[in-house]
Amino acid sequence: MKTKVCIIGGGPSGLLLSQLLHLKGIDNVLLEKHSREYVLARIRAGVLEHGFAKLMREAQCGERMDREGEIHEGFFIAHDGRMDRVDLHKYSGGNSVVVYGQTELTKDLYEARDRTGGQVIHNAEDVKPHDLTSSTPYVTYRRGDDIERVDCDYVIGADGFHGVSRKSIPKDVLKEYEKVYPFGWLGVLSRTKPVSPELIYARHERGFALCSLRSQVLSRYYIQVPLTDTVEQWSDDAFWAELKRRLPDEVAARMVTGPSIEKSIAPLRSFVAEPMRWGNLFLAGDAAHIVPPTGARGLNSAASDIYYLYHALLAHYQQGDDSGLENYSAKALARVWKAQRFSWWMTTLLHTFPDSIEYDRKLQQTDLAYLFSSEAAQRSLAENYVGLPF
Ligand code: APR
Ligand code: PHB
Repeated sequence: MKTKVCIIGGGPSGLLLSQLLHLKGIDNVLLEKHSREYVLARIRAGVLEHGFAKLMREAQCGERMDREGEIHEGFFIAHDGRMDRVDLHKYSGGNSVVVYGQTELTKDLYEARDRTGGQVIHNAEDVKPHDLTSSTPYVTYRRGDDIERVDCDYVIGADGFHGVSRKSIPKDVLKEYEKVYPFGWLGVLSRTKPVSPELIYARHERGFALCSLRSQVLSRYYIQVPLTDTVEQWSDDAFWAELKRRLPDEVAARMVTGPSIEKSIAPLRSFVAEPMRWGNLFLAGDAAHIVPPTGARGLNSAASDIYYLYHALLAHYQQGDDSGLENYSAKALARVWKAQRFSWWMTTLLHTFPDSIEYDRKLQQTDLAYLFSSEAAQRSLAENYVGLPF
């Protein structure tokens, strides 16, 4: 098979790029290791920055997001028994975020690829890129006993943190930066009315908590837990009790609890791989960088990669201009590192670190006191949370 762009990975990054290129008549093939059902069973984050929402509309995938997603113009930080609101709208020049589950967004992208006749190959096993530094790269994969081959101009590695693409870059070229946090998030999804129409990020001595939502009848809650904890250790009752303990009394009092429909523990990690281009391989999304979920940047960092790549490929195919491709890695990484800084800051501000000393805790309290006494600090938080410009 021959195509222009071979995309490895059918998560949000790969699907969005595939759809955007297709709409401009740029032929592409997407190879996904798993079945569609498997990909759509994953529960992930749910906050989209306005730039991501705009890109979804450009990809003709924004209709349900605009209908069912909720526009949020602020969120709360609970600390020291009180709630302070961050006014995103006021402090980001009128911007907001859209609360819409990544699972729904991925479903919409798959439907768009179906509708417009996209070439999405599921259950592609042993995907392997070849000759990436030549002008004739290709990708092989296995389907049952058959080895298939896709010849292309460019390979896009959008295959997530555990994918094969990043691993194809030689060790002496690739530099990886990593920070692993000494805790995880235990998340619960429940068919209950959310405790608050806006998200609540809570700092508490017992550990961080987050009250989020997918809709007004579907809640998503998280609590910080030690990495040694297992899901089996946490009954629903134990989860609700611990969550309530970490929230201000008036919030805990109106919490509606119910059976969990999903429960999982995710470790927290910051990770960046540089460069994001090697020969004719371009990395995008989780394949190149991971953030802890505290600042809701994961999916949104992927969006800026896709924006830069899409425009670089358009310029190449439509105008013969390769400057976007040449600059892709530097441009994408500049924004990636800002998302890294912001996620690290939000994580450090709101979590209880097992090895922290009294001095660290005083600094956390002071950082929060400063935040809510300074319009400049709230402006900085707001502009990062709604997403820095692409
Ligand atoms: N071959 C083909 N596909 C692969 C391979 C492989 N060797 N390895 C992984 N994949 C697929 C995975 O099955 C997955 O569907 O690549 C996809 C990568 O998707 P994600 O992990 O979702 O990564 P990405 O699309 O970059 O999404 C950005 O933002 O909210 C965050 O981490 C969250 O998934 C989210 C991410
Ligand atoms: C979520 O709803 O899953 C969510 C929201 C905000 C975050 C992280 C996760 O910062």
